[in-house]
Amino acid sequence: MVLPLWFVLLLLAAVQCSAVRNCYPGCHCEVESFGLFDSFSLTRVDCRNLGPGTAMPIPIPLDTTHLDLSSNSMGPLSDTMLAGPGYTTLVSLDLSSNHVRKISQNALSKLRYLETLDLSHNSLQSLAPNCFSGLPLTEVDLSHNSFQHFDMDVFSTKVNGEPVSVDLSHNKLESVSSSLHGRVLHIQSLNLTANRLSSIPNLAGIPLRYLNLDGNPIAYIKEGALAQLKDLVYLSLSSLGELQEIEAHSFKGLQGLQVLDLSNNPKLKTLSPAVFSGLDSLQELNLSMSGVTSLPMNMLSHLPSIKSIILGQGVHCWRTQKQGQFHRQLGQLQHDEVLSCDVQGAVL
Ligand SMILES: *[C@@H]1O[C@H](CO)[C@@H](O)[C@H](O)[C@H]1NC(C)=O
Ligand SMILES: *[C@@H]1O[C@H](CO)[C@@H](O)[C@H](O)[C@H]1NC(C)=O
Repeated sequence: MVLPLWFVLLLLAAVQCSAVRNCYPGCHCEVESFGLFDSFSLTRVDCRNLGPGTAMPIPIPLDTTHLDLSSNSMGPLSDTMLAGPGYTTLVSLDLSSNHVRKISQNALSKLRYLETLDLSHNSLQSLAPNCFSGLPLTEVDLSHNSFQHFDMDVFSTKVNGEPVSVDLSHNKLESVSSSLHGRVLHIQSLNLTANRLSSIPNLAGIPLRYLNLDGNPIAYIKEGALAQLKDLVYLSLSSLGELQEIEAHSFKGLQGLQVLDLSNNPKLKTLSPAVFSGLDSLQELNLSMSGVTSLPMNMLSHLPSIKSIILGQGVHCWRTQKQGQFHRQLGQLQHDEVLSCDVQGAVL
């Protein structure tokens, strides 16, 4: 029987190969191939938890794309520890749980294609200016560290080897980035959960879509604190044990924000309607386990896209076409739409 050529090609295209290959003792290296004639491949190297005294850099295959070095007690990162052959092709790197206190100025500079970096569960208090400069990072996890301040400087970019501090204070980002021949900041996701930040860091100029600041000792959120993060879609400000006040217009400028998590903030007792001004796209608001137990009367006029609000303990409000018989009307959204809550007689 002769199989038609197209059928053979289809079979080849459908098969996704995965092969284990030789690598450094204690590590696990796996190659995943995709596409017709295996034209694409990814090499994943897992060197977690290798035990004390492992010399760095650990040798890895030349075409490694994903490297997991978590839980290796690496300590301070020197300029050479991540500079071996194979490191230049990395797309993602996991350095979590490594007792990292310090990262030397050029420790990451060889990682020219790095998009995802996990530095969570370390002891970082600060990063050298330009520490991430020139890396095409889109996702950085710095959760569970000891940052008291976080500075934009770490993302600033070098031109011709000279560090340039990107001045974003007057919205000069566009002119700066065009002079860098398209080398713009790509950071879309930043996770600063469980640090020691006492105020919202100034992140103006980063095209962030996801920002997580949960579990920081932030007591006040000031008007305009997030004003320049116009690309933000998801903002989590949960478990801020000290949070007492969110000033009016704090979220102004976040016209693309869809999800706002303010849950588990027990000291936050009230919210003025103007807190929500400018949140034109907000669909989900989580106030579960917060001190806020009632919604300001006319807040809905500021939230034209809202679909769901979670309030207090287990009270869920959602947008409905018309008022249900046992539902309490909170406010008029459109002519025939109201926000209804599922607990009869809830004090709202
Ligand atoms: C941020 O970090 C926390 C704690 O490590 C984790 O639970 C959460 O999933 C992370 N969020 C994102 C968006 O990566
Ligand atoms: C709202 O927040 C609570 C407490 O943090 C969490 O358990 C719940 O999953 C959140 N709900 C949604 C829909 O995100």
